[in-house]
Amino acid sequence: MLTIVLQSSFDESLNLIQKTAEKAECFEIRLDTFEDLTKEQAKTLFKELAPFKTILTCRKASQGGMFEGSFEKRWELIKPYLSLEPTFVDFEYDTPDDHLKRLNEEFPKTKLILSYHDFDKTDSDLSSLTKRVLLSKNADAYKLATMANHAEDALRMFALVRSLSEDFLFTGICMGEKGELTRILAPVFGSTFNYVIDKESSEESAPGQLDISDLIDIYRYRSLNKATKVFALLGNPVAQSPSRITHNKVFRDLNENAVYLKIKLENDELSSFVNCAKKLPFHGFSVTVPFKQDVGALCKSLDDRANKIKAVNTLYKRQGEFLGSNTDGIGAIKALEASTKLEGKTVIVLGAGGSARAIVYTLLSAGAKVIIINRTASKAQALASELGCTGVGFDDFSHDQVKSPDVIINTTTVGMNDEMSTPLRGECISNRAVVMDIVASPKETKLLKLAKEKGCSVVYGYEMFVYQAVEQFILFLDQELDRQSIGKSIKDAYDSL
Ligand code: ATR
Repeated sequence: MLTIVLQSSFDESLNLIQKTAEKAECFEIRLDTFEDLTKEQAKTLFKELAPFKTILTCRKASQGGMFEGSFEKRWELIKPYLSLEPTFVDFEYDTPDDHLKRLNEEFPKTKLILSYHDFDKTDSDLSSLTKRVLLSKNADAYKLATMANHAEDALRMFALVRSLSEDFLFTGICMGEKGELTRILAPVFGSTFNYVIDKESSEESAPGQLDISDLIDIYRYRSLNKATKVFALLGNPVAQSPSRITHNKVFRDLNENAVYLKIKLENDELSSFVNCAKKLPFHGFSVTVPFKQDVGALCKSLDDRANKIKAVNTLYKRQGEFLGSNTDGIGAIKALEASTKLEGKTVIVLGAGGSARAIVYTLLSAGAKVIIINRTASKAQALASELGCTGVGFDDFSHDQVKSPDVIINTTTVGMNDEMSTPLRGECISNRAVVMDIVASPKETKLLKLAKEKGCSVVYGYEMFVYQAVEQFILFLDQELDRQSIGKSIKDAYDSL
């Protein structure tokens, strides 16, 4: 249930209810954060909240709230508001039994949520903790909120809630950035309440709360359920990646019960995260910097492309195991093939790093003649001799070697976030070449500007992103898909950014 937290002031709360009424399903009144909420004001709030589920909470300081005082004092404070019959009241796990009994006797219409918060860590044995502090007492619903310090914490919470959600109304949340997936995927693991904010009008009441509109509009929160297949981008950084927008749009257009998120991992989190994800409904990952080389070791097997390229950008699940592939090269080639055939063509590849390896391998497989030119000559030569083509240093390259290449591809980082730099001067670009830059930001790099001025046709970096993603979708969903329409979905979403 998407739950908006009302806090601080009556006026703000009223505004927030009106603003989010179309989207929220439940509202929590955090009594401890109000300086004063008169009985009359509370009545007005509850009247506004009549169509919704409500939670009344007066959180104690020891559990992250603002209420300082005894349980007895809190009971006296909260009692008049309980008579307004909220659907739920949230009491902490250590609330004395006689208060729970009084609640049951005096306010039988209000259901009890028993809660436990840990703002420092996620316990290493979540199952025992839950049994001890929550399930040992009778309640209508339970809530466990812990701070995620490791990416795997969120997956352990996911597994715990999924195992309990058939038998209990159970809410499991990992707070903080590393817990984000527990908030996006709550319906996938069966977590009951999801505490969210309206980012335009309110602050988070616990670390990591997400915006209600993002959840609904980007992640299609309302259509997520226990059968939803989960996919994600793994990398660091991942914030700038457009894939959660583009890929969720594809799932929407395909009417596929699937969701795509971004997950930032530290180097020491990759292996435990991927291994833990195997047992959960994660069905595939896109992998980006800095994990493309390391993630292969976590796969049951790699296909020929990934083996040759020595890097993996796609993990896809088959029979409970992750297999590895690399769609970077094929993405570049498909983007180029929209402008030119490659068989028998002469292609200059600038750069000899990881991206060049993927692209050169795929170009050679497509029957192109490739010359690698790199700042460091030895790297160009090494890559060329491994893959079977020619490799030279920038300084050793003479135009006599290739008078007029059919295709020029920049795979170096020159021009990335820099509109003035180019790996080739204008006079080195032959008029009839197709020029591609794999740098996606800026969209129009200096190299592509120079190429256009010479009348060349150009292929943008983002087009490689689009085509490599299309190939990923085919592996993710294990079915032939209409490449053109998926490419269009991605491009449309990309253009709308
Ligand atoms: P990626 O995995 O994205 O390909 P990489 O493996 O770090 O990244 O490779 C970066 C490529 O850009 C290399 O070919 C690098 O040339 P060197 O091998 O000489 O380092 C090239 N590159 C980076 N900065 C460059 C610059 N200022 N001028 C020319 N080439 C550059």
